[in-house]
Amino acid sequence: MNLRKVLIFAIAALAAVLLAFALVKGVRLFTGTTSAPGGAVVATAGAAIGGPLTLTDSGGKRVTDADFRGRYVLIYFGYTFCPDVCPTELQAMGRALDLLGPAGEKIVPVFISVDPARDTPETLGKYVRAFHPRMIGLSGSDDDIARAAKAFRVYYRLGRPSAPGAKDYLVDHTSFIYLMGPDGKLAVLLRGGAGAEAIAQGIRSVLP
Ligand code: NI
Repeated sequence: MNLRKVLIFAIAALAAVLLAFALVKGVRLFTGTTSAPGGAVVATAGAAIGGPLTLTDSGGKRVTDADFRGRYVLIYFGYTFCPDVCPTELQAMGRALDLLGPAGEKIVPVFISVDPARDTPETLGKYVRAFHPRMIGLSGSDDDIARAAKAFRVYYRLGRPSAPGAKDYLVDHTSFIYLMGPDGKLAVLLRGGAGAEAIAQGIRSVLP
C-alpha cells in the first residue's frame, strides 16, 4: 500500500472505532427513553443522571447542588469560546424560559464550563447574562469540573492549540440540556439542537 492508502485505511479504522464508541455511549445514555414532545426529550425521571456538585459562581462563591434544592434547574455544559453549538443552545434555553412565561420564572438556567482554564468565574458571569438575565455561570477547578461532568455523564476533551501554550484550542463536548427537579434528580433530559419551542414543551411536560 502506498502512503495515501495507508492514511485512508487508518482514517476509516478510526472512524469505525469512534462510531462504535458513540453507539455504546448513546445506548447507555438513552436507557429509559420515552417518546416525547418534538422528539426533544431523550430521558425522563429515573435515569441515573446528576449528582453532587461543588462549583464556583461568577461572584467567586462556592455553590453546591444542595443550594438549588426546591427549584427547577436547567443545566447546559459547554465553554464560552465555543464557536457555534454552545451559543445556539444557551440562546435556545433563554428563549424557552421566555416562551414559558410565568412558569419559566420558576426555573434557574445554569451554564457549567468544561473549560475552567479559560472560563474564569468573571468571564462566565458576563457571558451567560447575554443569554438570559437570570442565567448562572459555574466554573471551578479541573477536579470540580471532572466530577460534575461525570455525574451528568458529560464527555469533554480539550483540543490541540495552534501552537504549544496557545489559548485557541476547541473543546469537544456532548450537548444535552438537563432539567433537574426540586429534589435534585433528573426531571427530563433534552436533546441539544432541539430548539427553544421543543425545550419549552419538554419542560412544560414535567412541570406540576
Ligand atoms: Ni460548545
